[in-house]
Amino acid sequence: MSHSKVSTYGQYINGEWHMSQETLPVINKFTGEEYAHIGKASREEVDQAVTNALETFRTKKLSPYERYEILMRAADIFKERKEELALILVREVGKVLKDARAEIDRGIQTFIASAEEAKRIAGTGIPLGQPGNDGKLAFTVRVPVGVVAAITPFNFPFNLTVHKIGPAIAAGNTIVLKPAEVTPIIACKMTEILTEAGLPAGFLNVVNGLGRETGQYLLEDERIAHFTFTGSPGVGRHIKSTTGLRRLTLELGNNSPNIVHNDVPDLDTAAELCVTRGYSNAGQACISVQRVYVHEDVYESFVEKAVKVAQSLRVGNPEDPETDIGPMISEKEAIRAEEWIREAEQQGAKVLVGGQRNGSILDPTIMADVKPDMKVVCQEVFAPVINIIPFSDIQDAFDQANDSHFGLQAGFFTSNIQLAMRAALELEFGGVIINDVSTYRADVMPYGGVKDSGFGKEGPRYAVEEMTDEKIVVINL
Ligand code: SIN
Repeated sequence: MSHSKVSTYGQYINGEWHMSQETLPVINKFTGEEYAHIGKASREEVDQAVTNALETFRTKKLSPYERYEILMRAADIFKERKEELALILVREVGKVLKDARAEIDRGIQTFIASAEEAKRIAGTGIPLGQPGNDGKLAFTVRVPVGVVAAITPFNFPFNLTVHKIGPAIAAGNTIVLKPAEVTPIIACKMTEILTEAGLPAGFLNVVNGLGRETGQYLLEDERIAHFTFTGSPGVGRHIKSTTGLRRLTLELGNNSPNIVHNDVPDLDTAAELCVTRGYSNAGQACISVQRVYVHEDVYESFVEKAVKVAQSLRVGNPEDPETDIGPMISEKEAIRAEEWIREAEQQGAKVLVGGQRNGSILDPTIMADVKPDMKVVCQEVFAPVINIIPFSDIQDAFDQANDSHFGLQAGFFTSNIQLAMRAALELEFGGVIINDVSTYRADVMPYGGVKDSGFGKEGPRYAVEEMTDEKIVVINL
């Protein structure tokens, strides 16, 4: 059975939608209504999707220019349909309209950057200058790895899916995509649009369903050459332990630190950035501002400004263009974050603003007097909660920032170039952002963490490297 145009998607295998026997509802995260349904893929359906992706990889090829053209055409269609796609994000993620539009814009640029990479994939000449290699010519070529499984998260289900699909297509791989079950519709639309843009059947297959079932079937399929996953460290660990010797890119969490030194170039800007970027997407971004270390000389003033910014934000219906903060992905997650706040309060922390929950909406929250071992500090809060922590010695601020099992991105505000360079070298993170917050991300830059934040890099150029093999060719002349 093919999908109904309105809101039911099954499995996309070899260029056709198939409805599964069992379905799952997709909930509008603000109203709580069921606004769509997806099929729950069986093991057989996942097997068919991988079989098709592998056969396609072995039997069909797209030239770099064809891949470029398909990705560019898709970007054009996304531009034309931006409002419709943004509304899907508003409904299935609960993302506020302005952030939803921004995510679609970013995803379009990620497609374009992926298209450009399709034409730049190159090996290198290898000079064999050591004794005994006379008469040999050597060079490398980069070849696609085969079938890529992309397992995507709920928080940026458009752009983070493009970050996996775009480079995989650019590199000449075929794909089996497993979208997050709570936000799958945007990925299904993306699949339709890529087909409309000319992507032939078999290059992109989609399996819908629960991570612990459908995702698990994928992990157990040894024909998959590369897994690319964004999500929690717990699931990342499970993927690593299940996939043996296969290749992995894991983008996991962070409890992002940001340091505001007493020579901060502009305290107003720093306060505004720390607050607003702690709450974008209701704090549900891996690089969302969470720990803010502020020098004692500017602490009082920073807190006052930060509280004012937090109080000025509008909370509510994400479809209203004026809303700044919408619901979290579920009431369960909002309750979990609220419990962490209450627990911190019982241990001596103060809520300066926010801290209240209404269903799945948690008010933008600023906490003070926190301790390093409180959950709101040492774990990834993934909610609109920031902690402001004073420091007197910059080395102590660096040490506290590093005192984390995560290491994705950090921010540092200073006017001192030497200190900025020290921070760049001493902060143990995949990215250090000077005079902006940890949340800063340009989609072309290498993005990925150290420690429990995972490994491998995204950003189309880097993802194409991850999704290709560098093969050596030696010619005996
Ligand atoms: C993430 O949550 O890792 C993605 C954040 C972003 O792309 O802005």
